[in-house]
Formats: sequence, C-alpha cells, structure tokens
Amino acid sequence: MHPFVKDREDFDRLGTRTMEMLGEYLRGLPAQPVDRVVPEEVRRRLMSLPLPDLGMSPDEMLEFLQREILPWPVAIGHKRSYGWVNSPPAPMSILADVVATTMNSGLDGYDHSALFLMASLGRWIMDLVGFPSGGSLCLLLTGGSAATLNALTAARHRAAERAGWNVRTEGLQSGRPRLILYTSTESHSSIQKCAEQLGIGTDNLRAIPVDADFRMRPDALREAIESDLQSGHLPFAIVACGGATNTGAIDPLDAVADIAAEFGIWLHLDGAFGAWAALDPEYAERFKGIARVDSVTLNPHKWLQVPVDCGALLTRHPDVHRAAYSLTPDYLVAGESEVPWPCEHMFDLTFGNRALKTWAALARLGRSGLAELVIRCNRLAGMLDARVRTSPDLELLSPASLSVVNFRYRPADRNLDDAALDSLNQRISQQVSASGEAHLPVSRVQGRTSLRACFLHYENDEGDVDHLVRLVLGLGRGIAGSISPA
Ligand SMILES: Cc1ncc(COP(=O)(O)O)c(C=O)c1O
Repeated sequence: MHPFVKDREDFDRLGTRTMEMLGEYLRGLPAQPVDRVVPEEVRRRLMSLPLPDLGMSPDEMLEFLQREILPWPVAIGHKRSYGWVNSPPAPMSILADVVATTMNSGLDGYDHSALFLMASLGRWIMDLVGFPSGGSLCLLLTGGSAATLNALTAARHRAAERAGWNVRTEGLQSGRPRLILYTSTESHSSIQKCAEQLGIGTDNLRAIPVDADFRMRPDALREAIESDLQSGHLPFAIVACGGATNTGAIDPLDAVADIAAEFGIWLHLDGAFGAWAALDPEYAERFKGIARVDSVTLNPHKWLQVPVDCGALLTRHPDVHRAAYSLTPDYLVAGESEVPWPCEHMFDLTFGNRALKTWAALARLGRSGLAELVIRCNRLAGMLDARVRTSPDLELLSPASLSVVNFRYRPADRNLDDAALDSLNQRISQQVSASGEAHLPVSRVQGRTSLRACFLHYENDEGDVDHLVRLVLGLGRGIAGSISPA
C-alpha cells in the first residue's frame, strides 16, 4: 500500500496525536521563556539531516516534530513578545487552516466554496474599517508587502494608461516620463522595495517630511507634486501610513486624500498594522478617510491574529487590477463567473486558501470581539506611555499611537550622553531576551535607540505593562550601575 494511502486510512489517529501535541504546545507557551535560542547541537542536527532512503513512519515524524522543531519557535506566539508588529495565531484559525489544506482548494479561482465565502469575507473586512464595499474587491496575499506591490502595480498601470502608455506592452524603457511615488519618511521599508521592484527607482520615490507627531506633512506633499509636475514627471501614487510600524503614526488621511483627488493620483493606505484601529472610537475619526482612498493594505496576520501568512488588499478598482494583471492561458478560460477569480487580479496563479483562517478569526470574535481586542491593545500602550512619563528613569521617545510606544531607560542620577544611552538600551533589550521574560527589541526614533513595545496579543493585560516596566527598570539599574562614570 502506498504510504500516503496508509496515512489517509490512519488519519484520525495521527490527527488526534498531532492535535494533542499542539494543544499542549499552545497551553504551555505562557510558561516557556519568551525568546528561545536554538541550541548549537539542534542547529547542527537540523542542518545536516540525511535524506532518508526508506520513508519514516508517521509516528517517528511526529516525534521528530515534537523533539526538534516545536521547542524552538520565534517569540511571536508569546504574549510578552512586544517586538515588531506580530500577533499569535487564533486557535480556530489554526484549525480552519487544516481544513483549508486538507481540501487543497486554492483561492486562485474556479467555482468552489471558499471563493464564495471570500465575497462575504471581503465585505466584512471592508465594513469593519469603513472601506466602501460596493464594486470593490478584497484579495488575500502573502502579506502587507505583496498587497502594496499589487496596489502600486495597478496604480502604475492606470497613470501610464492615462498618459497614453501601455506599461504591459512598452515596459519602462521607451523614454516615457518618470513615474513618481510619494510616501512619508516614516513609511514601511516595503514601500521602498515596491518602488525598486516596479522599476520606479528610489530616485523617484519622494520621502515626504513628517510633523512632530511623525505624520506626513500635506504642505510638503503638495509642494513635491507641484515641483514634479513642473519638471514634466508623472506622479502616479501616494502611500499614506495608517499607522507607521515604528511609531504608530497615522497620516492626515483627509488632507492627503484632498491632494490625491486634486491631482488625480492613486491614494493607497498602508494600514497593514493599523487600519483595524478604525474600530476604536479613539481612532475612528482619524481613519474616516479610508472611505476616500483607492486601496488599502491591511494584514490579517497582524492584529486579527491570523497565522502567517495573510495580507489583505482592498481596492475600489478591480477593473484596473485586472487590466494590469490578467493573462489567462487557453486551458484556464473561466467564462463568466459569479465571483471574480482572484488570480486575474494579481501576480500569483496558484495560491493557498487564506480565506478559511481569516474567516475563522473574524467569525470567532465578531465585530465586538475584534473591537475589544484593538481597544484593549491601544489602551495598554496608553498605560505604558503614562508609566514612562511618570518614571524619572524612563524617557518617552514616541508617545503611544495605536498600540506602539517607544521609550528608553535614562537613569535620572547619571548624566549619560546619547551614545551611552544607545548602548545601555541595546544591552537592556538583549538582557530582556536573555531573561526569557519578554521580547523587546530596539528601534530608532529620531536617531536615538529606543525600546519599542507593541501590544497585539489576545491575552495582553495591565499586568503585562506592569511587568514590562519593572523588568526594564530592574535590568536598567543593574546595567547602568556597571557603567563607570564618564
Ligand atoms: C505598516 C506596515 N506595512 C507593511 C508591512 C509589511 O507587511 P508584511 O511583513 O506582511 O509583508 C508591515 C510589517 O510589519 C507594516 O507594519
């Protein structure tokens, strides 16, 4: 009997064993060190595994996974992992993903259940953040970078077409005007990658200065566009931050949308992290402008707690994406379908069914559950901000915006310069990791090394803020004490 036939027959037992192992893993995480370094001998073993000549038994394989793989994750599943913008996986999303991979029905096209579910899911996501759903399309890609690349490809196509230029046939090498992309100095590195990948070039990426709250300055945006137009260039897209990864800053969407409308430029909102905050009454006003943008990136694999990978793109212009991407081989012609085939609007042809795991997180939480999670995380950042402000040995480097705070340890009784504080805070971050009690990587704000905390875990609470402040103060005191006076 073929091994896969045997496994199929034994699937329930193997599945039960796997799920027991995973249940134990998930429940055990809080008691585990947050950061775990893969031991040297495990690294060596994993990198030098011989290819088995005879296949392993499923039980041996499960033992291998339990012994060699499961104990060494990245920290992001743990609730005291405050780095980057990463969330843990919602348990029901994990299970829904097993259903998706078992069915193995890609989300690219054809007539199957998940594609119809996608129509509702897209509408749900749009409604949640206030993006107009009539005539719009939601695509689920690998992440925020891919979603923004998709949007900017469509924007490039539209701007070029309006100028009488078909990018798909002519490419970028026929002496046409320079395409110009605008974003703030605070925007995510993926925007620069998009400019490089799309052949725009970083020379044609305008990094618009920000105000004291790290938000794009509309006056500077307007000035840059006018100057480019005068030079005969072709402004094709603006990417606004909502919010910026480093500081949580939210660009003034309405003012930027006015400018985009005035000059007929595609406005994309990079809300990979922050657009979910439209659900928080504290932030709803600042996200109202979502109703006016052409497209939005927002990541289910961030605040929504969907397991990686999943980045959503919302677009008002499915027809433009189709014009930019559609290339259907004869053997695939779909005829008229009741729902659009995603693969007609994007680069990927075959890709995984990310709809079920995304549906699972949303269905389980509902609107109110997701709102509660977002509001709580934002509130915790506000609490940390307040604790930093009142602690003489801590300094705020960027105030709480969304669920992010940047701060540093700065002992009041020592006169340390920025270089010394940079290295002190770097060491604190390393010792936080080494303690196993939290994960708090450093970032930089206005040239200074910061401890950057981002709350995104479904289980984060006030005790975590307390714990984090005590941990940083304790470690900071110890390290500062060992630095000799200058
Ligand atoms: C604001 C923002 N945009 C884009 C991205 C890139 O998303 P991804 O890592 O899913 O490609 C991130 C990731 O942290 C982000 O925070």
